Formats: sequence, C-alpha cells, structure tokens
Amino acid sequence: MKLIFLGPPGAGKGTQAEGIADYYGIAHISTGDMLRSHVRQGSPLGLEARGYMERGELVPDGLILKMVEQRITASDCEKGFLFDGFPRTIAQAEALEEICDIDYVVDIDVPFERLVKRITGRRMCPDCGSAFHISDYKESTCQRCGGKLYQREDDKEETVSRRIKEYSAKTEPLIAFYQAKGKLLQVNGDQSRELVAKAIREELGV
Ligand code: AP5
Repeated sequence: MKLIFLGPPGAGKGTQAEGIADYYGIAHISTGDMLRSHVRQGSPLGLEARGYMERGELVPDGLILKMVEQRITASDCEKGFLFDGFPRTIAQAEALEEICDIDYVVDIDVPFERLVKRITGRRMCPDCGSAFHISDYKESTCQRCGGKLYQREDDKEETVSRRIKEYSAKTEPLIAFYQAKGKLLQVNGDQSRELVAKAIREELGV
C-alpha cells in the first residue's frame, strides 16, 4: 500500500499518519521530520534546508527528491509507505510518478482560519515525533516516550502565515492533480481526532 496524506500545515497529517501506517504495517515517511533530524545533526542537507524551513518556505525540490528516493529503498518500506508532507509541488508529484505508483491520496481538509491556533499551540516530542496541543495536554513531557516537549521554530505565528501561503500557491494544486487521476479521497479534518481517524478509515474501506 502506498499512500499520501495531503493537507495544509496543521491539518492533522502527522496526528493521523501513525495509526494508518501501523494498520497497514507500512513506513510513515514525514519529510518534515526527516528534514528536522538533518537540521539537528547539522548534516549538509540540514544546513541547506534550515533557512527555508525557518522562513516558512518550501525546501527546493531537488533536495527533497534525493532524500525521498533514498528513504524508500529502506527495508521498512518493503510493504509500502505513507508519505506525510510529500509531495508538495507538482514537480515533486511528477517525479514521484516516475519512481512508484501511489494507491490513494487522502486530502485532510481544514479551514485556514483554524490552522493558526492549531499550529501555534502545538508542542512536539523531539524523540518520537508525537504532536500535542496545549489546549488538551498540559504536561511538558511526551505522553508516549517521556521526551521533553518543545515548540517548533516554524510554529511561531509570524512564520505560520508564510507556510499557509506556500501551501496555497504550491501544494493546493495537487488536489486537482490527483483528482484528475481518480486517486483523491477527501476527509473533513475539522472535527475531533477520533472522527477524522474514522473518516479516513471509511474512505480507505478499512
Ligand atoms: P512539515 O513538518 O511537513 O509541516 P507541515 O506540512 O506544515 O505540517 P505540520 O507538521 O505543521 O502539520 P500536520 O498536518 O502534520 O499537523 P499535526 O498532526 O502536527 O514541514 C515543515 C517544513 O519542512 C516546511 O515548511 C518546509 O520548509 C519543509 N518541507 C517538508 N516537506 C517538504 C517537501 N515535500 N517539499 C519542500 N519542503 C518541505 O497537528 C497540528 C496540531 O493540531 C497538533 O498540535 C495536534 O495535536 C492538533 N490536532 C491534530 N488534529 C486535530 C483535530 N482533529 N482537532 C484538534 N486539534 C488537532
């Protein structure tokens, strides 16, 4: 099974991805998590990507594609994978078509006015990548693994609006791209986490 989760920043892609990837026994591939790990390690890719990410801009396609092509050769991708945050441009989607055939694209739709609150209140675990929200989780350590929660550098209000603009200009056109290919499943992401998870499963027929 090869899936893509599409949606604006803060739509809940990461929140929903783990459960679905576990269900199918496939790898959860978040290009955002991979890039943040490169930035933390100070690798050449991390050094190149850092400025774009801090400004809320997309990282150039060439860097992303090289990283993804390498990632999907890993042994945990043998049964398939779920892309979270990739592809993000038509050029990335076209390049992906050259390397594999995607089964479904799940578009998680949330009105833009809800996103800022979701993103600025998010706290992340650096160790396992789990995301929490200050409105319903008050602890400073991760519920799953005990890691010390932090706020992402690009989750500050001034950067969030830039990320949403990048999404509108460069990523939203992918909805029509995948609709035309008959691969698009649309889910209302503006409801509780549990109801979003249920809606995704219903769309996937599982
Ligand atoms: P990335 O890490 O991919 O960020 P994003 O797409 O902007 O998505 P987010 O992680 O912000 O949101 P999400 O949809 O996963 O929401 P979450 O589940 O956490 O990318 C970061 C940067 O890396 C980019 O800006 C770019 O620079 C670069 N990059 C990455 N991939 C790239 C690519 N392919 N090409 C070029 N550049 C790339 O939920 C958000 C919050 O809401 C959480 O607090 C959560 O608890 C809460 N929440 C979730 N669901 C619900 C719900 N149903 N109700 C209420 N709250 C909810």
